[in-house]
Amino acid sequence: MQQLRLLKHLYQLKSFGYDYFDMPKSVEKASDAQVSGLPDNLHALREYAFSCHLCGLSKTRKNVVFGEGNEHARIMFVGEGPGEMEDNSGRPFVGRAGQLLTKIIENVLELKREDVYIANIVKCRPPSNRTPSKEEANQCKPYLLKQIELISPEIIVSLGATSYKYLTLDMDTPISKVRGEVISFGKMKLIPTYHPSFLLRNPSAKKDVFKDMLKVKAML
Ligand code: URA
Repeated sequence: MQQLRLLKHLYQLKSFGYDYFDMPKSVEKASDAQVSGLPDNLHALREYAFSCHLCGLSKTRKNVVFGEGNEHARIMFVGEGPGEMEDNSGRPFVGRAGQLLTKIIENVLELKREDVYIANIVKCRPPSNRTPSKEEANQCKPYLLKQIELISPEIIVSLGATSYKYLTLDMDTPISKVRGEVISFGKMKLIPTYHPSFLLRNPSAKKDVFKDMLKVKAML
């Protein structure tokens, strides 16, 4: 009810000519208040995200790709954002990159895809698969942080530079320098590695991801 009223208010502002705006610097880091204001269970959080219109990606999405997997997973993978197939199906990592990720989970970690949890930095597809903007990532981040809090995995594997950057707020270190490092992320450990789409374009980097995943496996 409250959400509907808010939505109506936003549409009213839009009719006056207001547009989406950049987040003020002070709230760029998802604050505890933003995260704690969200529902405390994944089902309700999913519903919440499904009616989200906080950024322009909501205008062009077909589906909100919330994430899927074991709600008690010990490992959580975080990608960048849904592509076309994910937008069509509402499920993360179901295209070519997703098939490679599934293979990595099954063949290297020796787990089933359903054993882990898979999500993205942004839950709606950026048009033409462009990198999500800082504003889009910041608007969406509270949902991801709440998901992480509720699932409470032991290890988060960030896939690619965008995921690493927005999760850690380290905007400067290249992914090639940090991949495979074990980084503290609250009570959890975060291990950055290359994105499966990068591996499709650069198969020679597969050996690095193989090494990183063996490290993850040894930590479990
Ligand atoms: N790439 C991503 O980063 N996420 C997906 O869900 C699919 C492709």
